[in-house]
Amino acid sequence: MVRALPTPRDLSGTPTIRSLIGLSRASQGRLGQRRPKGAFRAPILPLLASISIAKARKSQYASADASGYPKNGELVARGPGSPDMIQLFHVYKTFAKEVEALVDINLQIEKGEFVFLVGPSGAGKTTLLRLIFHDELPTSGQILVNGRNVVKLPGRSLPSLRRSIGVVFQDFKLLRDRSIADNLSLVYRVHGTPSAVGKRKVANVLKMVGLSHKAQMMPYRLSGGEQQRAAIARALMSDPLLLLADEPTGDLDADLAADVMRLLGEINMRGTTIVVATHDTSLVGDSGRRTILLKGGRVVEDRP
Ligand SMILES: Nc1ncnc2c1ncn2[C@@H]1O[C@H](COP(=O)(O)OP(=O)(O)OP(=O)(O)O)[C@@H](O)[C@H]1O
Ligand SMILES: [Mg+2]
Repeated sequence: MVRALPTPRDLSGTPTIRSLIGLSRASQGRLGQRRPKGAFRAPILPLLASISIAKARKSQYASADASGYPKNGELVARGPGSPDMIQLFHVYKTFAKEVEALVDINLQIEKGEFVFLVGPSGAGKTTLLRLIFHDELPTSGQILVNGRNVVKLPGRSLPSLRRSIGVVFQDFKLLRDRSIADNLSLVYRVHGTPSAVGKRKVANVLKMVGLSHKAQMMPYRLSGGEQQRAAIARALMSDPLLLLADEPTGDLDADLAADVMRLLGEINMRGTTIVVATHDTSLVGDSGRRTILLKGGRVVEDRP
């Protein structure tokens, strides 16, 4: 298995949010310190993006020819400024040389879409999300997020990619030893945002998810649904273009699940592209949302 960055772990043994919020390996020991003047910041990325998209196009078609994949007549790589948020081309992911988690996935998800990724346990939903935010690399194939080829992304650009993607995963829980507000504050501190601006942001996102009154509480004093909304609030701290949610309603009863889905719908209405992986088909129901069905690592249905 190839990992882009080792996932740092907190004392409780669960992955910390540091990896999710784009904290680089070098800066993980400097939490809370100010970013030195002249240190790397995101704006260099448009330049890197244009280079990586050029390489992406070249390698995509080069590898397609060399490996004998049939050329895909429908999907064409489109760079920064395109209407696509996510593009996958002939993506395969094999674990331990024999588990074929994903097989020849070709997908385009446009900016502003709200997409359900459904399928039975083991279908490959989580793996697909992990590939999109570069927690794993595909065994082969190309993945573009907002026009940038994440497979070929240089390590120094990873923090910025992760900042543009909000992630709500079941195993990335809130840190248990600090309040909800402090969990969120960590995000702006890592980003080097001035404290006054960061505090305003914390207040805004907590208001958006309806948790202003719980800001100073420790996570264990919140209900499952509230904790999930706090996790969504944390993901919103970076103003992500894309929000990936893996079983966001997994532990919740039907009413709380509906609340969380309503919140995700509101976030989508504000322009954020959303991909929700779930095996709970009742969530999808007659939502009218695009639904991609995975089975055995393959897309078997893509219903608009
Ligand atoms: N790190 C890993 N090492 C080895 N195999 C893995 C790893 N991660 C996933 N797999 C395998 O890849 C396949 C797809 O797993 P994945 O977690 O993506 O499924 P899923 O659709 O999210 O399932 P669930 O609904 O149970 O969460 C499974 O066979 C799983 O065992
Ligand atoms: Mg899963």
